[in-house]
Amino acid sequence: MRSFKTPFPESVLQPIQRGVLSYKYKGVPCLKSPLDICIYMKLLWDLKPGTIIEIGSKHGGSALFFADLMQSYGLGTHVYSIDLERPDLTDPRITFLEGDVNHLEDSFAAHGLSDCPRPWFVNEDSAHTYAGCLAALRVLAREMQTGDLLAMEDGNLVELGLSERYDGGPNRAIAEFFEASPDVFEVATEYCDMFGQNATYNPNGYLRKT
Ligand SMILES: C[S@@+](CC[C@H](N)C(=O)[O-])C[C@H]1O[C@@H](n2cnc3c(N)ncnc32)[C@H](O)[C@@H]1O
Repeated sequence: MRSFKTPFPESVLQPIQRGVLSYKYKGVPCLKSPLDICIYMKLLWDLKPGTIIEIGSKHGGSALFFADLMQSYGLGTHVYSIDLERPDLTDPRITFLEGDVNHLEDSFAAHGLSDCPRPWFVNEDSAHTYAGCLAALRVLAREMQTGDLLAMEDGNLVELGLSERYDGGPNRAIAEFFEASPDVFEVATEYCDMFGQNATYNPNGYLRKT
């Protein structure tokens, strides 16, 4: 596995992070970096997903952004968004589901997600703990099909000094998963490196199911 290092010095990363935490889409908090919003816009046009599955709804801002984007692309892609709690937002294009990233298999079984139209774009943006990310990778390795894309968000929490709090977070989970199962996903470098090698909040986190 190649390095997870991003090109952002701390003097750049910290103000971006303040912006990410206060960013709103149509008045709803939407905790995405500007680079990744741009990468998602390109990725979703390229992929033209049949279904978007988001884990980590928060206030629903990112689900709303994905639903609007799909509509603007002329696609009727439905968005499923899973969180421990449903946000206070209703939209016919989005189904908010209660679920736990540590037991994603239960959400897939309870709501028939395995039968949703392909290809899938899966956005894992929930607990960010090493254990939660690894659990998600294991379930998604079974549920995703060749060509489906996954974004494991916020591996750069290591560079924000938060690694200990998340027990190594997404980077550790991705590295260990690839070590044990090198052929399940490939790093989609055209997205990770769109603005420079790993110039993203999701270093080595754009993953294509092989
Ligand atoms: C970073 S926020 C999501 C941000 C949202 N995707 C956006 O871009 O605006 C993380 C969310 O994950 C949820 N979360 C935390 N632990 C979780 C778990 N074990 N399973 C599912 N969701 C969890 C939190 O409730 C929170 O709403």
